[in-house]
Amino acid sequence: MRHLIDSTDLSVAEIDDILDLAQKIIDNRAAYSEMCKGKKLATLFYEPSTRTRLSFEAAMMELGGNVLGFSSADDSSVSKGESVGDTVRVVGCYADIIAMRHPKEGAPMRASMVSPVPIINAGDGGHNHPTQTLTDLLTLKRERGQLGNFTIGLCGDLKFGRTVHSLIKALSRYEGINYVLIAPTELKLPGYLIKDVFEAEGLPYKEVLTMEEVMPELDVLYMTRVQKERFFNEADYVRLKDTYILDKKKLKTAKPDLSILHPLPRVNEIAPEVDEDPRACYFRQALNGKFVRMALMLKLLELA
Ligand code: NCD
Repeated sequence: MRHLIDSTDLSVAEIDDILDLAQKIIDNRAAYSEMCKGKKLATLFYEPSTRTRLSFEAAMMELGGNVLGFSSADDSSVSKGESVGDTVRVVGCYADIIAMRHPKEGAPMRASMVSPVPIINAGDGGHNHPTQTLTDLLTLKRERGQLGNFTIGLCGDLKFGRTVHSLIKALSRYEGINYVLIAPTELKLPGYLIKDVFEAEGLPYKEVLTMEEVMPELDVLYMTRVQKERFFNEADYVRLKDTYILDKKKLKTAKPDLSILHPLPRVNEIAPEVDEDPRACYFRQALNGKFVRMALMLKLLELA
């Protein structure tokens, strides 16, 4: 039985396989509409979510399966003090596959150790978010035609942003990628990622403070929200939240084929005026999230 806890749990070949299956689903949705008939997905979300939970649920419904679960710890026996391990053992009796989001780093990993069914990490604290990474990879592949050979700017909250941590680890296995880390000093990428990924693999990276100084060199710009819920004090959040705001003016020096991604939700970091720009990929990215989760569940359930 396979789980998906970290974005590097899957080999590059397995990721390519999932992305190919997602593209096949996009091209012929009807062919997959009954593939999960009789199967149930449980979504156990101990932390807020819109896209991730609903795209998982929509994905299972589009495959002909059913969904159950909770969208807040307050609605479940967790509020009575039940452990993640016990919850998963029990839900594993009712569902064939479980997607779990948890504020504590490592909770889905713990769940996978006792679960009778596959566990998918749908985001654990500031750590990892592998299905967002699959979404990002599918988006990059569809928008750019290939994975690799580009300069990517990762901008915003690189300290707490789990989508960035997951994506960097996954991308580090593809060729020809330059990394530009755009963050204020307080929200820089954690040292362990610099050391274990960029330095250990000898990958080209640089750290800068403004997006203006690097805009002309970027092929991909991955914007992120400042992760309010992970700050220890409100004053720091308020001071840092609007450090980067991408608008039309800043895009003037950007490449004509730049791909702008954002895992969403956005707060102020991309002005709505950018939405009409053909280089804005983030709503297409959200749609890709559903297809890639369909492909992932088919693989983990060994149905494709
Ligand atoms: C992200 C997350 O939850 O980490 N959202 C998502 O799943 N699309 C990004 C965020 O919350 O900023």
